[in-house]
Amino acid sequence: LNIQKQGYDSYMLKEVFEQPKIIANIARWDEAKVKGWKKGIKSVQLIAAGSSWHAALIGQYVLEKKARLTTRVWVASEYVKANPPLSACSLTLAISQSGETADVLNAVKWERKRRKEQNCLYQCPIIAITNRKESTLAQYVNEIWPMNVGVEMAVAATKSFVATLMMLYKLAGIKTEELLPLASEVEHVLRTESTRMREMAEQVIKFPLCIFMGRGLLWPIAMEASLKLTEVANLASLAYAAGEMKHGYLALLSQETLVICLSCADHQVEEIEARGASVMRLDLEGEQIHVAIKTLVCLQMLSYYAAKLKGLDVDRPRHLAKSVTVF
Ligand code: AGP
Repeated sequence: LNIQKQGYDSYMLKEVFEQPKIIANIARWDEAKVKGWKKGIKSVQLIAAGSSWHAALIGQYVLEKKARLTTRVWVASEYVKANPPLSACSLTLAISQSGETADVLNAVKWERKRRKEQNCLYQCPIIAITNRKESTLAQYVNEIWPMNVGVEMAVAATKSFVATLMMLYKLAGIKTEELLPLASEVEHVLRTESTRMREMAEQVIKFPLCIFMGRGLLWPIAMEASLKLTEVANLASLAYAAGEMKHGYLALLSQETLVICLSCADHQVEEIEARGASVMRLDLEGEQIHVAIKTLVCLQMLSYYAAKLKGLDVDRPRHLAKSVTVF
């Protein structure tokens, strides 16, 4: 028995199973304390990379829909080049599990410098959501909002991604009573969907291309699932918004293609099957904010099993590092 892995065969699996507890902890955050952050803020810009960028895309949905705050999302590596106009009441929220990602640090440093030059450092704070309070990122921001989910050992982000989503849900004003049941729902998913995900993984690894598609919150979830499958199981995969299929992606459909449809409409599934591609459907029930996380947890397991079936090291995928400290 490996104590550090607490009986799990990998850090990734251990971290996946830590998620119900993390969800419950963040769901219980004091609403009154969370409320204050919006004061004086007219818009938000989220800056992140990789999985944290996917989390930011979901953050955009909830901040716009629930908190009614105009929100923009930036891939960190594109931010400086884009040179977006500075607006006085816009909060910058950098999201980085490690707090060491070079692209994120560079974007935040640049933002801080231009704000200082234009004397608006105070009016528009730069805040970081990170799992490492002591990280380099902390030196460049006005405030840290820590995830407090413990060290994430596996290269693939799992618990830190879910923690970020939960924090963004809270910031968007979603109430404790709405979020708390998600903890036991995810626990249930982990217990009941594992066999189905293993069986799905047996099929997934046979296809040269696996496409994920979904709408709303399930679009960034499709992107995250695709990244997970690519990084841990080294499979060619892509993701797009379900409605985009007809705008070009149909050309990819053949007997060689597997499409994983996340809560898609029947007609979309029929269109895919009619072109000879295989379809797997994942239709979990509930509110979209819950479904997004439950679907993702299933797909984390899918990637885990796909990697295992291929005999790969799920914790240390080839060519990848936990924090990307180079440009
Ligand atoms: C996720 O599984 C990847 N390991 C990677 O995309 C990661 O999310 C990205 O490098 C950003 O890392 P950060 O959150 O530590 O900044």
